[in-house]
Amino acid sequence: MTIAREEELARLKAIGRIVADTLQAMGAALEPGMTTAELDALGRRLLEREGARPAPELCYGFPGATCISVNEEIAHGVPGARRLAAGDLVNIDVSAEKDGVFADTGASFALPPVDPAVRRLCRDGRRALWTGVRQVGAGRPLAGIGTAIGRFAERQGYSLVTNLASHGVGDSLHEEPTEIATWPEPAERRTMHEGLVFTIEPFLSLGADWAEEAGDGWTLLADPSAPTVQYEHTLVATRNGPLVVTLPGRQAA
Ligand code: CO
Ligand code: CO
Repeated sequence: MTIAREEELARLKAIGRIVADTLQAMGAALEPGMTTAELDALGRRLLEREGARPAPELCYGFPGATCISVNEEIAHGVPGARRLAAGDLVNIDVSAEKDGVFADTGASFALPPVDPAVRRLCRDGRRALWTGVRQVGAGRPLAGIGTAIGRFAERQGYSLVTNLASHGVGDSLHEEPTEIATWPEPAERRTMHEGLVFTIEPFLSLGADWAEEAGDGWTLLADPSAPTVQYEHTLVATRNGPLVVTLPGRQAA
C-alpha cells in the first residue's frame, strides 16, 4: 500500500493501534498453565471487539486468529493445546484488517524465570528492530535496513534468520515490495518511495540462521535450534523518516 491521502493514513493508524493494543494485552495475559488456544481466543475477542478481522485466517485460512510460537517454534505457530510453562519464550504475531486496511505487529515474551542470555536477547531483539526503523525514509535504499541490522547483530554476537523477510502490507497482509531483507543483502537495489507501507521484523537468535518447516504446513522452527526472537512493526516511509503505526494507544501520538 502507498499512502496518498490523509484518510488512508487514518485507516492505517486505526488498525495499527488495534493490533498493537491486542498484542500488548496478550503479552500481559501470559501465564504458565494457559494453553496457546486460550491466549489466541483472547486475541480474537479483542480484535473482533474493535471490528477487526484476523488477517492470517482471512488471507491464508490459518487455523487461528493470531500466530503463537513457543521456544523451538519461531513463526506461524498454530494455537492449540500446548500449555505454556515457566521459562518459555513465546512469540505472538498479530495481524488484522479493518475498513480494507491491514497492519501487522509481533513481539516475543519470556516467562519468568528468564535465563539472562534470553533476557538480553529480548532487549536486543527490540533494539535490532529499531535499528532497522531508523533507516526508513522516502528516497532511501531498502538495503539500508538489512545492512544496519546485520551490523548490529554481528557487533552484539547474534545470528539472524535469513529466510524470513519483511514485506509490504496495507491492501493485504503480504504484498509488494516482498522479501525485504533484515540482513545484509547486496543484490537489494530498491528504494523506499513516499508513503510506502511495509513491515520490519528481524529474527534475532542465539545461533539460528534459518527457519525450517515443521511439517504441519504452518509452523516454522529455528535451525539450528536456539532461542530466537522477533519484534515487528508496520510503518510508513515519509519525507520526514519513519512513521510507525503499530504503537499501543497509550504511546501513539
Ligand atoms: Co507479523
Ligand atoms: Co509480517
